[in-house]
Amino acid sequence: MRIAMVGTGYVGLVSGACFSEFGIEVTCVDKDAGKIDRLNRGDIPIYEPGLDELVARNAEDGRLTFATDLSVAVRAADAVFIAVGTPSRRGDGHADLTYVFEAAREIAAALDGYTVVVTKSTVPVGTGAEVEREIRTARPDADFDVASNPEFLREGSAIGDFQRPDRVIIGTDSQRARELLRTVYRPLYLNETPILFTNRETAELAKYAANAFLATKITFINEISDLCERVGADVHDVARGIGLDGRIGRKFLHPGPGYGGSCFPKDTLALARTAAQAGTPLRIVETVVDVNAVRKRHMADRVIAACGGSVAGKTVAVLGLTFKPNTDDMREAPSLDIIPALTAAGARVRAYDPAGMPEAKKLLDKVEWCDGEYEAIQDADVLVIVTEWNAFRALDPERVKSAMRSPVVVDLRNVFDPATMAAAGLRYTSIGRPGLGAGTKPKAVRDAG
Ligand SMILES: NC(=O)c1ccc[n+]([C@@H]2O[C@H](COP(=O)([O-])OP(=O)(O)OC[C@H]3O[C@@H](n4cnc5c(N)ncnc54)[C@H](O)[C@@H]3O)[C@@H](O)[C@H]2O)c1
Repeated sequence: MRIAMVGTGYVGLVSGACFSEFGIEVTCVDKDAGKIDRLNRGDIPIYEPGLDELVARNAEDGRLTFATDLSVAVRAADAVFIAVGTPSRRGDGHADLTYVFEAAREIAAALDGYTVVVTKSTVPVGTGAEVEREIRTARPDADFDVASNPEFLREGSAIGDFQRPDRVIIGTDSQRARELLRTVYRPLYLNETPILFTNRETAELAKYAANAFLATKITFINEISDLCERVGADVHDVARGIGLDGRIGRKFLHPGPGYGGSCFPKDTLALARTAAQAGTPLRIVETVVDVNAVRKRHMADRVIAACGGSVAGKTVAVLGLTFKPNTDDMREAPSLDIIPALTAAGARVRAYDPAGMPEAKKLLDKVEWCDGEYEAIQDADVLVIVTEWNAFRALDPERVKSAMRSPVVVDLRNVFDPATMAAAGLRYTSIGRPGLGAGTKPKAVRDAG
């Protein structure tokens, strides 16, 4: 079995390396020659725990190779996966499919013998059919099927997610393509991973529905956390109280500064656009998109409120820049809203992130970049936790207090224990916990009826 993986980013590189670990011969292709050069030198272009060893092992055994030109890899492949980016299209929020169709045309030119072309990229419902038409038009003679196999891995735990997924979804009506993909995923099949075979449209839509549901869950608990602050309730206990109900589940009920990342923002937007176009608007998803955007913008206001109404001339230490821990991915990270708002309000921002700084430096200006947590905190007027890296949980409150000019901590991820922070003499603000919210006192709320 041979696979060509077209696009060697977060999804393509992890999937390619994991398929090679299954014993399949994989060539990962990318247009970005710099990326392929680095991979050929054994240097991993992204931060993903465990990926360096996995790539090194399989490259050394000769099962995993890297190339800029897809033609050789596609010609030899039984399955060609498309794992290129599908960002938001500027202006209207639809998924930009330029890279997908470019890849499809290049693949078409190289097809040789029966091949399954698989869209692993997150693509709007109907894209598989269009990819098939493009390839058929370019190569009426080719023997191929187009299947959908959306990817559900999470950055930061991508290898474990790929090797032990909750499910695999394969969308195709072709029996031949099904059998080939069943062989590709055989190790997972033997593991008793649920493998859902369905049609292409269903597989495409299931990916968007999953992301929209998770984004909704996060946004729901974020709004509940605002209410908690107003009424003296504790969002952690509310989350536990509802999450222990098996119908709801405990995951994705952690309040924070709003979801970001490479998937939820663009996928919620694209799904809302698809639905509106189909004449069945998804009003819940549209609202989630709006509520989340407003929330991210308002996070800087919390910092300003914690500083007594102004950050002008103050030094703000920001810990965490990436959209979540254990990745270097800065796409749509809340820090990209918070930091510019703080500098616009006159703050001097000092920042540190364990993995995100090389990318953050390209996206943010007027920031003093620090080499560690305590360097960022030194002489700061306020400390803001934006991403919940484990290293930040281990900060010593006494040391934080003595390093800072004034002892104000705004914890947008609730990583600290309020009592410990108070005991160290820190003025601590977190999210959705009684008396600790954005400076508001709990109000008694009575049923208006
Ligand atoms: N990042 C995630 O956590 C995640 C999870 C699940 C699904 N997805 C989806 O997977 C897809 C890829 O996401 P990503 O985060 O890996 O993107 P990415 O931007 O990290 O990687 C995409 C890569 O494709 C390359 N590329 C573009 N056109 C090409 C072409 N014609 N030939 C060869 N290479 C080409 C780019 O140079 C880039 O390296 C997206 O649709 C995304 O929504 C991402």
